[in-house]
Amino acid sequence: MRRRFGLSLPPPFAASPPAPVSVRAAEATDGAAIAAVKWRSWRRAYRTILPDAFLDDLAVVPTPGYWIGRAAVPPSHRHGCFVAGPRGTVLGIADVAPTRDEDLDREAVTEVLVLYVDPAAQRRGIGGALLAAAVDHARTTGAAEVVLWVAEANVGARAFYEAAGWRADGAGKRFEVTPEVAMEEVRYRLGPIPPP
Ligand SMILES: CC(C)(COP(=O)(O)OP(=O)(O)OC[C@H]1O[C@@H](n2cnc3c(N)ncnc32)[C@H](O)[C@@H]1OP(=O)(O)O)[C@@H](O)C(=O)NCCC(=O)NCCS
Repeated sequence: MRRRFGLSLPPPFAASPPAPVSVRAAEATDGAAIAAVKWRSWRRAYRTILPDAFLDDLAVVPTPGYWIGRAAVPPSHRHGCFVAGPRGTVLGIADVAPTRDEDLDREAVTEVLVLYVDPAAQRRGIGGALLAAAVDHARTTGAAEVVLWVAEANVGARAFYEAAGWRADGAGKRFEVTPEVAMEEVRYRLGPIPPP
């Protein structure tokens, strides 16, 4: 399919290359694979946190079209979309942007909006490599701190961030996935990060 249409593939269609896996800026042709990896990883990560019926019927949101746009035309130089895997393969994604939080300085704080590794490729250092690329992008585009929101009950991801030196900063909020489905989130923070 890649040869025919020029599209990147997610697992299980793309074979998982041996470690170390490289991280690169996303391209428009990665859009469908990014959407697929996020969908697969999301369904697995929230299985014991959100209702089964909701996850079983989960829509692909954002759509491939959204990711094609994010990769092809970043809204600003501070936005960044990264994928793990050689060209033509997407094993994980990280998406960063100026923070959305009104209590923080938007000019100085970057947010990791999305960080997902395909379930078939977890615990191989890929999440760590994507997070490092996200922080590096924040640093080189002038951020002094980086934040992210994680489900309070997502103990695996929280352990991952803590192992990378991030700490909960005490902020919390209720994230309404839909009007009927919600989860509590906590904010994690890294910083101050040294300038480049
Ligand atoms: C969380 C996630 C991004 C981590 O990526 P990963 O590639 O699996 O993690 P890495 O291999 O880079 O892990 C680095 C270190 O973090 C820690 N860590 C990672 N996952 C962990 C877990 N589930 N439980 C405890 N510690 C964990 C370990 O110290 C690990 O080092 P080790 O494997 O040598 O023990 C990935 O597991 C994932 O996508 N999970 C589902 C989606 C999700 O929760 N995303 C975050 C939303 S905010």
